[in-house]
Amino acid sequence: MDLPSTTRITVKPTGASLAADVIGIDLTQPMDEATFKQIEDAWYQYLVLRFRDQHLDDPRFLAFARRFGELDKAPIHAGKDVVNPYPEITVMSNIKVDGKAIGNLGHYEAEWHTDMSYNELTPIGSLLYSIEVPPAGGNTGFANMYEAYDTLPAELKRTIVSLQCRHDSSRNSAGELRKGFKDISDPREAPGAIHPLIRTHPATRRNALYLGRRRNAYIIGLPLDESEDLLNKLWAHASQEKFAWYQEWKVGDLIMWDNRCAMHRRDAFDPESRRLMHRTQIKGDKPFFDPATVAA
Ligand SMILES: [Fe+2]
Repeated sequence: MDLPSTTRITVKPTGASLAADVIGIDLTQPMDEATFKQIEDAWYQYLVLRFRDQHLDDPRFLAFARRFGELDKAPIHAGKDVVNPYPEITVMSNIKVDGKAIGNLGHYEAEWHTDMSYNELTPIGSLLYSIEVPPAGGNTGFANMYEAYDTLPAELKRTIVSLQCRHDSSRNSAGELRKGFKDISDPREAPGAIHPLIRTHPATRRNALYLGRRRNAYIIGLPLDESEDLLNKLWAHASQEKFAWYQEWKVGDLIMWDNRCAMHRRDAFDPESRRLMHRTQIKGDKPFFDPATVAA
Protein backbone atom coordinates (compact mmCIF):
# COMPACT_ATOMS: atom_id res chain seq x y z
CA MET A 1 0.00 0.00 0.00
CA ASP A 2 1.27 3.43 -0.85
CA LEU A 3 1.67 5.60 2.18
CA PRO A 4 1.72 9.36 1.74
CA SER A 5 5.30 10.54 1.80
CA THR A 6 6.60 13.76 3.28
CA THR A 7 6.20 16.53 0.73
CA ARG A 8 8.93 19.12 0.53
CA ILE A 9 7.00 22.34 0.75
CA THR A 10 8.34 25.86 0.66
CA VAL A 11 6.76 28.65 2.67
CA LYS A 12 7.33 32.03 1.03
CA PRO A 13 6.21 35.08 3.06
CA THR A 14 4.61 37.92 1.11
CA GLY A 15 6.84 40.43 2.91
CA ALA A 16 3.74 42.30 4.13
CA SER A 17 2.55 42.28 7.74
CA LEU A 18 1.01 38.83 7.21
CA ALA A 19 0.42 36.03 4.68
CA ALA A 20 2.66 33.51 2.93
CA ASP A 21 2.50 31.28 -0.11
CA VAL A 22 2.82 27.55 0.39
CA ILE A 23 4.60 26.21 -2.68
CA GLY A 24 5.17 22.66 -3.86
CA ILE A 25 2.02 20.93 -2.70
CA ASP A 26 -0.94 19.42 -4.53
CA LEU A 27 -3.82 19.43 -2.06
CA THR A 28 -5.63 16.66 -3.94
CA GLN A 29 -2.94 14.21 -2.75
CA PRO A 30 -2.79 12.49 0.66
CA MET A 31 -0.77 14.48 3.17
CA ASP A 32 1.32 12.98 5.95
CA GLU A 33 1.41 14.34 9.48
CA ALA A 34 4.82 16.00 9.13
CA THR A 35 3.69 18.01 6.11
CA PHE A 36 0.46 18.96 7.80
CA LYS A 37 2.41 20.15 10.85
CA GLN A 38 4.62 22.33 8.63
CA ILE A 39 1.50 23.93 7.16
CA GLU A 40 -0.12 24.44 10.55
CA ASP A 41 3.05 26.04 11.95
CA ALA A 42 3.22 28.36 8.93
CA TRP A 43 -0.43 29.27 9.48
CA TYR A 44 0.28 30.23 13.08
CA GLN A 45 3.29 32.27 12.00
CA TYR A 46 1.81 34.07 8.99
CA LEU A 47 -1.96 34.05 9.84
CA VAL A 48 -2.95 33.72 6.18
CA LEU A 49 -1.74 31.02 3.78
CA ARG A 50 -2.19 30.91 0.02
CA PHE A 51 -1.98 27.73 -2.09
CA ARG A 52 -1.97 28.54 -5.82
CA ASP A 53 -2.80 26.38 -8.87
CA GLN A 54 -4.96 23.89 -7.00
CA HIS A 55 -7.57 21.65 -8.67
CA LEU A 56 -9.94 20.87 -5.85
CA ASP A 57 -13.43 19.48 -6.02
CA ASP A 58 -15.69 19.96 -3.02
CA PRO A 59 -14.87 16.64 -1.25
CA ARG A 60 -11.11 17.28 -1.51
CA PHE A 61 -11.48 20.89 -0.44
CA LEU A 62 -13.42 19.75 2.63
CA ALA A 63 -10.96 16.91 3.34
CA PHE A 64 -8.08 19.39 3.52
CA ALA A 65 -10.06 21.80 5.70
CA ARG A 66 -10.97 18.96 8.10
CA ARG A 67 -7.30 18.44 8.93
CA PHE A 68 -7.59 21.62 11.01
CA GLY A 69 -10.74 20.66 12.89
CA GLU A 70 -14.42 19.93 12.60
CA LEU A 71 -16.22 22.12 10.06
CA ASP A 72 -19.29 24.27 10.62
CA LYS A 73 -22.44 23.69 8.65
CA ALA A 74 -23.04 26.66 6.35
CA PRO A 75 -25.37 29.25 7.86
CA ILE A 76 -28.82 29.58 6.37
CA HIS A 77 -28.84 32.67 4.18
CA ALA A 78 -31.95 34.58 3.30
CA GLY A 79 -32.50 34.90 -0.42
CA LYS A 80 -30.23 32.00 -1.29
CA ASP A 81 -32.02 29.95 -3.88
CA VAL A 82 -29.59 27.23 -4.88
CA VAL A 83 -28.24 24.85 -2.25
CA ASN A 84 -24.79 23.29 -2.55
CA PRO A 85 -25.04 19.54 -1.77
CA TYR A 86 -22.27 19.78 0.85
CA PRO A 87 -23.66 21.38 4.03
CA GLU A 88 -20.20 22.63 5.09
CA ILE A 89 -19.80 24.73 1.93
CA THR A 90 -21.06 28.26 1.53
CA VAL A 91 -21.14 29.51 -2.04
CA MET A 92 -19.89 33.10 -2.33
CA SER A 93 -20.95 34.52 -5.67
CA ASN A 94 -22.77 37.24 -7.58
CA ILE A 95 -23.85 34.79 -10.29
CA LYS A 96 -27.54 34.35 -11.02
CA VAL A 97 -29.02 31.38 -12.86
CA ASP A 98 -32.52 31.94 -14.22
CA GLY A 99 -32.69 35.08 -12.09
CA LYS A 100 -31.83 33.21 -8.88
CA ALA A 101 -28.72 33.96 -6.83
CA ILE A 102 -26.49 30.89 -6.49
CA GLY A 103 -24.45 32.38 -3.64
CA ASN A 104 -24.00 35.09 -1.03
CA LEU A 105 -22.59 38.62 -0.76
CA GLY A 106 -23.20 39.57 -4.43
CA HIS A 107 -20.68 42.00 -5.93
CA TYR A 108 -20.61 44.41 -2.98
CA GLU A 109 -17.73 45.63 -0.90
CA ALA A 110 -17.38 43.89 2.46
CA GLU A 111 -15.94 46.05 5.23
CA TRP A 112 -13.18 44.95 7.61
CA HIS A 113 -14.53 42.22 9.87
CA THR A 114 -13.91 38.90 11.56
CA ASP A 115 -16.22 36.07 10.56
CA MET A 116 -19.20 35.50 12.85
CA SER A 117 -17.76 37.27 15.86
CA TYR A 118 -21.37 37.98 16.89
CA ASN A 119 -21.66 34.32 17.97
CA GLU A 120 -20.58 32.94 21.35
CA LEU A 121 -18.35 30.40 19.62
CA THR A 122 -16.48 31.94 16.71
CA PRO A 123 -14.93 29.99 13.81
CA ILE A 124 -11.20 29.64 14.35
CA GLY A 125 -10.44 29.84 10.65
CA SER A 126 -11.99 30.06 7.20
CA LEU A 127 -10.94 28.69 3.83
CA LEU A 128 -11.87 30.20 0.48
CA TYR A 129 -11.26 28.51 -2.88
CA SER A 130 -11.65 30.39 -6.16
CA ILE A 131 -13.46 28.81 -9.10
CA GLU A 132 -14.23 31.91 -11.20
CA VAL A 133 -12.70 35.37 -10.77
CA PRO A 134 -13.65 38.72 -12.30
CA PRO A 135 -11.09 40.43 -14.59
CA ALA A 136 -10.69 43.23 -12.02
CA GLY A 137 -11.75 43.99 -8.44
CA GLY A 138 -13.00 41.59 -5.79
CA ASN A 139 -9.61 41.48 -4.06
CA THR A 140 -9.62 40.31 -0.45
CA GLY A 141 -7.65 42.24 2.17
CA PHE A 142 -6.31 40.73 5.38
CA ALA A 143 -5.00 42.61 8.41
CA ASN A 144 -2.71 41.43 11.21
CA MET A 145 -4.39 42.04 14.56
CA TYR A 146 -1.39 40.80 16.59
CA GLU A 147 0.59 43.71 15.19
CA ALA A 148 -2.33 46.07 15.69
CA TYR A 149 -2.37 45.09 19.37
CA ASP A 150 1.41 45.11 19.79
CA THR A 151 1.71 48.65 18.39
CA LEU A 152 -1.07 50.22 20.46
CA PRO A 153 0.14 52.98 22.78
CA ALA A 154 0.78 51.50 26.26
CA GLU A 155 -1.94 53.64 27.82
CA LEU A 156 -4.52 52.38 25.33
CA LYS A 157 -3.48 48.78 26.01
CA ARG A 158 -4.07 49.39 29.72
CA THR A 159 -7.45 51.00 29.01
CA ILE A 160 -8.79 48.03 27.07
CA VAL A 161 -7.25 45.23 29.11
CA SER A 162 -10.42 44.44 31.01
CA LEU A 163 -12.98 45.71 28.50
CA GLN A 164 -15.44 43.68 26.50
CA CYS A 165 -17.27 44.52 23.32
CA ARG A 166 -20.64 43.40 22.04
CA HIS A 167 -20.59 42.29 18.38
CA ASP A 168 -23.74 43.18 16.45
CA SER A 169 -25.45 40.23 14.80
CA SER A 170 -28.14 42.20 12.96
CA ARG A 171 -26.16 43.01 9.78
CA ASN A 172 -23.83 41.10 7.47
CA SER A 173 -20.36 42.23 6.34
CA ALA A 174 -21.84 44.12 3.37
CA GLY A 175 -23.96 46.09 5.88
CA GLU A 176 -27.23 44.42 4.89
CA LEU A 177 -29.85 43.80 7.56
CA ARG A 178 -30.22 40.09 8.19
CA LYS A 179 -33.68 38.56 7.87
CA GLY A 180 -35.62 38.57 11.14
CA PHE A 181 -33.57 41.40 12.72
CA LYS A 182 -34.78 44.92 13.33
CA ASP A 183 -32.80 47.98 12.30
CA ILE A 184 -30.73 49.22 15.26
CA SER A 185 -29.93 52.90 15.73
CA ASP A 186 -28.53 52.68 19.29
CA PRO A 187 -25.53 50.30 19.55
CA ARG A 188 -26.45 49.63 23.20
CA GLU A 189 -29.54 47.80 21.93
CA ALA A 190 -27.79 45.66 19.33
CA PRO A 191 -28.06 41.87 19.69
CA GLY A 192 -24.92 39.72 19.62
CA ALA A 193 -22.20 38.02 21.67
CA ILE A 194 -19.87 39.79 24.08
CA HIS A 195 -16.11 39.15 23.77
CA PRO A 196 -12.94 40.65 25.25
CA LEU A 197 -11.27 43.40 23.17
CA ILE A 198 -7.96 41.59 23.55
CA ARG A 199 -8.03 37.99 22.41
CA THR A 200 -5.36 35.52 23.44
CA HIS A 201 -4.61 32.94 20.75
CA PRO A 202 -4.78 29.49 22.37
CA ALA A 203 -1.94 28.04 20.25
CA THR A 204 0.51 30.94 19.93
CA ARG A 205 -0.37 32.61 23.28
CA ARG A 206 -0.05 35.95 21.48
CA ASN A 207 -2.62 38.69 22.02
CA ALA A 208 -4.62 40.21 19.18
CA LEU A 209 -7.00 43.15 18.99
CA TYR A 210 -10.41 41.55 18.54
CA LEU A 211 -12.83 44.05 17.01
CA GLY A 212 -15.28 42.01 14.89
CA ARG A 213 -16.91 44.80 12.94
CA ARG A 214 -17.45 48.49 13.59
CA ARG A 215 -21.13 49.03 12.95
CA ASN A 216 -23.25 48.92 16.13
CA ALA A 217 -20.34 47.68 18.24
CA TYR A 218 -20.58 48.68 21.90
CA ILE A 219 -18.09 48.47 24.75
CA ILE A 220 -19.96 47.10 27.73
CA GLY A 221 -20.36 49.42 30.71
CA LEU A 222 -19.20 52.64 29.05
CA PRO A 223 -21.39 55.66 28.30
CA LEU A 224 -22.24 55.50 24.58
CA ASP A 225 -20.07 58.50 23.60
CA GLU A 226 -17.03 57.02 25.36
CA SER A 227 -17.62 53.65 23.74
CA GLU A 228 -17.87 55.32 20.32
CA ASP A 229 -14.70 57.39 20.88
CA LEU A 230 -12.68 54.39 22.03
CA LEU A 231 -13.91 52.17 19.20
CA ASN A 232 -13.15 54.88 16.64
CA LYS A 233 -9.63 55.17 18.03
CA LEU A 234 -9.07 51.39 17.95
CA TRP A 235 -10.51 51.04 14.42
CA ALA A 236 -8.43 53.95 13.08
CA HIS A 237 -5.36 52.19 14.44
CA ALA A 238 -6.29 48.64 13.33
CA SER A 239 -7.31 49.57 9.78
CA GLN A 240 -3.98 51.17 8.85
CA GLU A 241 -2.65 49.85 5.55
CA LYS A 242 0.65 48.86 7.17
CA PHE A 243 -1.09 45.92 8.85
CA ALA A 244 -2.76 44.76 5.62
CA TRP A 245 -2.06 42.56 2.62
CA TYR A 246 -4.33 42.12 -0.41
CA GLN A 247 -5.00 38.89 -2.26
CA GLU A 248 -5.51 39.33 -6.01
CA TRP A 249 -7.41 36.20 -6.93
CA LYS A 250 -6.54 33.72 -9.65
CA VAL A 251 -8.57 30.62 -10.45
CA GLY A 252 -7.31 27.73 -8.30
CA ASP A 253 -6.21 29.87 -5.34
CA LEU A 254 -7.02 28.51 -1.92
CA ILE A 255 -6.65 30.95 0.95
CA MET A 256 -7.00 30.09 4.61
CA TRP A 257 -6.96 32.60 7.42
CA ASP A 258 -7.03 32.59 11.20
CA ASN A 259 -10.07 34.47 12.50
CA ARG A 260 -8.55 34.74 15.97
CA CYS A 261 -5.84 37.16 14.88
CA ALA A 262 -6.69 38.45 11.37
CA MET A 263 -9.47 40.61 9.98
CA HIS A 264 -10.48 40.66 6.33
CA ARG A 265 -12.42 42.77 3.83
CA ARG A 266 -13.36 42.58 0.17
CA ASP A 267 -13.37 45.10 -2.66
CA ALA A 268 -16.48 45.47 -4.78
CA PHE A 269 -16.35 44.36 -8.40
CA ASP A 270 -18.27 44.87 -11.64
CA PRO A 271 -21.68 43.21 -11.22
CA GLU A 272 -21.59 42.21 -14.90
CA SER A 273 -18.54 40.02 -14.31
CA ARG A 274 -18.64 36.63 -12.57
CA ARG A 275 -17.01 35.61 -9.31
CA LEU A 276 -17.50 32.17 -7.75
CA MET A 277 -15.84 30.89 -4.61
CA HIS A 278 -16.48 28.05 -2.21
CA ARG A 279 -15.95 28.72 1.44
CA THR A 280 -15.86 26.58 4.54
CA GLN A 281 -15.02 27.34 8.13
CA ILE A 282 -13.46 25.51 11.03
CA LYS A 283 -15.72 25.12 14.03
CA GLY A 284 -15.40 27.73 16.70
CA ASP A 285 -14.11 28.21 20.17
CA LYS A 286 -14.93 30.85 22.75
CA PRO A 287 -12.70 33.93 22.53
CA PHE A 288 -10.82 34.58 25.77
CA PHE A 289 -8.18 36.88 27.19
CA ASP A 290 -5.51 35.41 29.45
CA PRO A 291 -4.30 38.13 31.86
CA ALA A 292 -1.09 36.13 32.48
CA THR A 293 0.03 37.13 28.97
CA VAL A 294 0.38 40.76 30.03
CA ALA A 295 1.61 40.23 33.59
CA ALA A 296 4.33 42.68 34.59
FE1 LIG B 1 -15.94 37.27 6.02
